[in-house]
Amino acid sequence: MKLIDIVNRAANPAPWSEGEKIPWDDPDFSQRMLAEHLSQRHDAASRRYDLLDRQVAWIHDNVLSSQPTHILDLGCGPGLYASRLARRGHTCTGIDFSPASIAYAQKSATDEGLACTYQLGDIRQTDYGQGYGLALLIFGEFNVFRREDARQILRQTHAALGAGGRLVLEPHTLDAVAANGANSPRWTSYSAGLFSPQPYILLTESSWDASQQIATERYFVIDAATGRVTRHAASMQGYTPTEYENLLLECGFEDVKFHPSISGSMDERQDSLCGITARKGRGG
Ligand SMILES: C[S@@+](CC[C@H](N)C(=O)[O-])C[C@H]1O[C@@H](n2cnc3c(N)ncnc32)[C@H](O)[C@@H]1O
Repeated sequence: MKLIDIVNRAANPAPWSEGEKIPWDDPDFSQRMLAEHLSQRHDAASRRYDLLDRQVAWIHDNVLSSQPTHILDLGCGPGLYASRLARRGHTCTGIDFSPASIAYAQKSATDEGLACTYQLGDIRQTDYGQGYGLALLIFGEFNVFRREDARQILRQTHAALGAGGRLVLEPHTLDAVAANGANSPRWTSYSAGLFSPQPYILLTESSWDASQQIATERYFVIDAATGRVTRHAASMQGYTPTEYENLLLECGFEDVKFHPSISGSMDERQDSLCGITARKGRGG
């Protein structure tokens, strides 16, 4: 793209029409993103370890009653939850389509001798395996899927759980998705950053489709040396609590419960998300 394409851009792009998501699965981007997952300066890609430890403790103590089980982590990133849960006696399978994150997770598990296996794959197209006691889909990733993909992921997750298996979902609240869509346009310059190792200017623009409850964020990355423009876009589907509950029931789950967070307490680092637990019936 060229600079003129920014000038001529569509005013309000249809959700997902200009891109599925930021390029998590691009090898170079995923390598740069890995540094953000592991950074202890912010909670942007993964939560910092203090919060992550509290969330893992809540899952282990409250959801699993400290009973060892086999855990599926969908969108596991660099395995920060899976490795902690494995240290508490669980066996874990993580699936993610970020090559750098999966390579890091695999190496960490091998180095530490943890009972974790990782698979590089898109969770919309990957076989999850069978017989899990718990499935995780956390840190808001649920909302970046179109409604039909989200439903299919939940159905597949339900099928992958054993009888009585639990789900921990951590989606965004509708208010947080709407606030995301209402953000003012903004720009930043980087000498090197997430979108490029070369100097670039990043223009970010948000829009909100109220009738569909979808926020879309567009990123125009302008290479400072050449003026070449690369566009990325990501959309987020918002749901009311009733919609979350109905969707889970429709996908076969029972005992749907809402929690202020997945750490047992609420603070400003988690207030754009909520915790939902659900169960697969004993009859399977
Ligand atoms: C916000 S990060 C959270 C990672 C991890 N759950 C954590 O909290 O540390 C979202 C993760 O979802 C992964 N992801 C997004 N879409 C995916 C897809 N369609 N299939 C597999 N992984 C996906 C990304 O690669 C990224 O690692």
